[in-house]
This record gives sequence, C-alpha cells and structure tokens, in this order.
Amino acid sequence: MYKAFYGLKRNPFEITPDPSFLFATRRHNEALAALYYGVRRHKGFVVLTGEVGTGKTLLLRCLLQLLKQSDDVKYAYVFNGRLSPLEFLQYIAGDLGLPAAGKNKSELLLQLAGYVVSRGEKKLTTVLVVDEAHHLSTDILEEIRLLTNLETADEKLLQILLVGQPELDEKLDSVELRQLKQRIALRSHLAALDVNETKGYIERRLQLGGSPRAASLFPPETVAAVHRHSGGIPRLINTICENALIAAYARQAACVAPDMIDTIAKDFRLGVHTPREEKKKTPDELDFRKAAKTLLELYAHLQGEQAREGEEELAARLPVVTKQ
Ligand SMILES: Nc1ncnc2c1ncn2[C@@H]1O[C@H](COP(=O)(O)OP(=O)(O)O)[C@@H](O)[C@H]1O
Ligand SMILES: [Mg+2]
Repeated sequence: MYKAFYGLKRNPFEITPDPSFLFATRRHNEALAALYYGVRRHKGFVVLTGEVGTGKTLLLRCLLQLLKQSDDVKYAYVFNGRLSPLEFLQYIAGDLGLPAAGKNKSELLLQLAGYVVSRGEKKLTTVLVVDEAHHLSTDILEEIRLLTNLETADEKLLQILLVGQPELDEKLDSVELRQLKQRIALRSHLAALDVNETKGYIERRLQLGGSPRAASLFPPETVAAVHRHSGGIPRLINTICENALIAAYARQAACVAPDMIDTIAKDFRLGVHTPREEKKKTPDELDFRKAAKTLLELYAHLQGEQAREGEEELAARLPVVTKQ
C-alpha cells in the first residue's frame, strides 16, 4: 500500500531496534563509544541511562554486533531486569554456556567467578550486559557489586554494562548502593533529539527504506510538528511518521502535511511533549566524548577489514555512522 506509493522498499519506521537503521547523533555515538571502550579497555562498570524510546536497546544491539566480531569476547545479555537473584545468575551462567541446573546462588557465583578469572588469565574479555536494568532489585545490584570485585592489580576481569531508564541513576544514587556507585567507571546518558536531529533522523530512515524523495516527503513544518508532538523521542517519531505516511497515502498526497501530524498526535493522545529536564553533565560524561571520534575510526577500520576479506555483506550489516 503506502510503501509502493512512496517508492519504499521496506518500512522505514519499524519500531524494533534494528542496528542497520542507526542514525548516529553525537550523543548516540558517544554513548556507543563509552560502552565499547568500557569493554575493550576493561574499565569494569559502565552505566547508560535514557528515557524510554531514546535508543538504548538499539545501541546495545549495535554494540553486541561489534563485539561479535571479536573472538576474544564472550558476553551474557540479560534483557529482563525483573528476575530474582537466583534466576539472574542462572540466566547468566546459561548464556555463557556454563551448567546452571540444580546449583544454588553461591555455587553459581563461584562458578561464574572461576570462569571469569580463567578467561582473564588467558587475556580474554567477559562481559555482562543488562538491559532494563532500572528494574533490578537491590539484592541483584548487590550481587553485581560482588562481581565487580573480580580484578587484578590493574584491571577489571568482568565488564559490566547496565542500561536502563533514568530511575537506574536514582537507584545507584541511593545510600545502600553507594559502594556500587563508586565503582562506575563511565556513565552516559541518551537524550531526546533536537529538531535538526529529528529532521536528519526522518530523512535517514526514509533513505534506508529506499525512498527516492527522502529529503522532501516530510517538509520542514511537518518535521517541526513531529518534533513538537514526539518531544524528539525516536520511538514516538517512528509511530507518528508511520501513521503519517498512511494518512498521506489515504489522501494520495505527494508529501506529509503538518495538520496530518496534529491529527495523529491527537489520536494517540500525545499532546505536546516537554522532555524531563536534563541534569548537568558530570566531568566524566564530558571526558569520554573524546572516544566518539575513535569510534568512527573503528567503524571505518572494521568496514575496511571486511572489504579486504571480501565479506562486504558483513560490512553492510554494520551500523552506518553519519558524521554530524
Ligand atoms: N539513533 C537512532 N537511530 C535510529 N533509530 C533509533 C535511534 N534511536 C532510537 N531509534 C529507534 O527508536 C525506537 C526505540 O528505540 P529503543 O532502542 O527500543 O529505545 P529504548 O531501549 O531506549 O527504550 C527503535 O525503533 C529504535 O530503532
Ligand atoms: Mg529498551
């Protein structure tokens, strides 16, 4: 239906987090760089927060795609924060290929510690990634603190990435968890897109969807309306834009008009969004911005290497980094 009408080859505003759709804003780039360098440089404990729909899971998928290219990295990826401590450890053991059946909590912890240490001795990297980490209970966060103790004189042996909504920051700020908080090596935060980024985001997705008119399908006033109603939250931008294309198709319109966006926002009861106020950046956050440049080089390197090996399709699957 609307896809053929607008010359699209695939749905540009799918809401599943697909790395091939990454539009790398400065913040997304910096956050991905922080996660990647946290792991590669054995920083130990890295936290990424952001409002719902800002692209955290997407970034994790991009990261895992990058990590999968390295034989020396093994990771456990927990995407459900609502587990009991036993389920949590069982899940990690299972994901790392360790036997978990019938073991109690301390046995699982010991086994995991043995595994991490023996990999560390062989200079191999082990990563624990937790998405939706704002749901983790204080008990599990305490287990995680124990795992951060696994270290040699100069580096951490288990790399831990906690990713979640801003409530995670609040949890980590609590008095009971101050010891864990002190161990955070890198912290970054994803924010909503500004109006220019929203324009770039929509255009990029249309381009990747195969649109021959990616730059003009959503004129500037329409983009402004999308930004106003979505507050720059990528997930909401997707929902609005997908419905806008359907509405525009129903009118057989050549481009999406601003009033269509207002109607959709009303139907979805979106109102006008005012994103939560941003906290002042910590020196840490500013510090690892530098890493973003290196990440661009890394992509270039990976893509170059793939091409040399004649595996261009692998390179094509890497997220595209747009220089802003
Ligand atoms: N920088 C981005 N580039 C492309 N798509 C994005 C970006 N950020 C978010 N999205 C899209 O927005 C939607 C919500 O992202 P998701 O990662 O699920 O958010 P979160 O995990 O923060 O709730 C997904 O469709 C995702 O692909
Ligand atoms: Mg998510």
